[in-house]
Amino acid sequence: MLHQYTKIPTIEIIKNPYSFYEEIRSIHPVYKGNFFKYPGWYVTGYSEALTILKDNRFQTRIPLPEATKKYEALKNIQNNMMLFKNPPDHARLRMLVSNHFTPIRIQKYRPFIEKIAKNLLEEIKNHKKIDIISDFAFPFASLVIAKIIGIPDDDKNIFREWALSLIQSIDVTRSRRSIVAGNKTTLEMLSFFKDLIQKRIQSPQDDLISELLHQEKDRKLTEEELLSASVLLVIAGHETTVNLISNSLYCLLTNPKEYDKLIENPSLIASAIEECLRYESPTQMIARVASEDVELNKVQIKKGDHVYVLIGAANRDSKQFSNADVFDITRNPNPHLTFGSGIHFCLGSALARLEAQIAIKTLLQNVVNIHLETKDVEWRKLVSFRAMKEMHVHFDD
Ligand code: HEM
Repeated sequence: MLHQYTKIPTIEIIKNPYSFYEEIRSIHPVYKGNFFKYPGWYVTGYSEALTILKDNRFQTRIPLPEATKKYEALKNIQNNMMLFKNPPDHARLRMLVSNHFTPIRIQKYRPFIEKIAKNLLEEIKNHKKIDIISDFAFPFASLVIAKIIGIPDDDKNIFREWALSLIQSIDVTRSRRSIVAGNKTTLEMLSFFKDLIQKRIQSPQDDLISELLHQEKDRKLTEEELLSASVLLVIAGHETTVNLISNSLYCLLTNPKEYDKLIENPSLIASAIEECLRYESPTQMIARVASEDVELNKVQIKKGDHVYVLIGAANRDSKQFSNADVFDITRNPNPHLTFGSGIHFCLGSALARLEAQIAIKTLLQNVVNIHLETKDVEWRKLVSFRAMKEMHVHFDD
């Protein structure tokens, strides 16, 4: 029973992951399979997903095969990221940056985030036809994270290439070629950040890099760790937020009743974004490895087994959410797992939420009669993330 394999090809799963999730969940919520060439336990049940994410016996791991010279830089940089660290090292690295991302600190960023959204919309609203991703979500998220980290505005355009390359190199659909490309991107990013660090040593600013430099001086973190934190924050803080903004707008435009509800009652924005996070999660899969034998919902997970937590599936588990496949912007409570759970719970969740709320609210306030050019959008060839290639919309003046 547990070893049946679905025949759905990867390309179909990418188009509609939810029917694939449902198919394997109906067999078992912790399903032993071999998808995308990765054998392991594919977890689609909400309670099982939550249990695994909170249990430190399921450890995070660097998502690369054994290092060769061809991708040594990528491996080294990941090696110093909190995302791929387990206790006890994890807590030290997380603590050094966590102050910057508390909900109170994030609220201080509100005025400049609102200004960025407004300025961008001033530029694009006369075009009447735009690609939401490249014309709005990407520059918006780039300008926000650049300002927080301390990257000059002129350099923000390089984010796009960096993010696309690094995300592709960690997704389970990656090829050896994309890992080698990710390595080249890492080298470029390292040289960029080394330069920036030199500038901040000479003239400190009110930004994250300058603050981390203090901690390096106090020997609380090494230069490699400082560089890894910068790369992690640029990638984690950018790509998923772009996808949250575009996926949210897609959910609203393909569910006109919910869209109208939000237009009539703009104070629903926070709850609407929570539902977008649940319904079309920008992150779909989190990988772990069992550090010892564990029994979970009557299956025996062995030490060394790989576990793939399908958070996009857990978010649609009807045992946890009533009418799980219905998009409802007033859903309450909405304990989705889009930001993960346990010690690796997303550090940037408050920032991502605020950015998405401001982006969607400002967009809907500034354009009239917005509609999708086609519902049949193309999704990028990624399994761990949910991201459209482009999203073309029209609007009136
Ligand atoms: C919609 C946007 C976002 C989503 C869906 C998202 C999702 C996630 C998820 C699922 C994890 C846990 C990964 C794991 O357990 O293996 C995570 C971790 C993390 N996220 Fe986010 N994230 C988003 C935005 C951001 C932003 C804006 C930042 C920072 C500026 C950020 C920084 C981080 C960091 C540093 C970690 C690692 C935390 C740790 O290992 O302790 N994320 N994120």
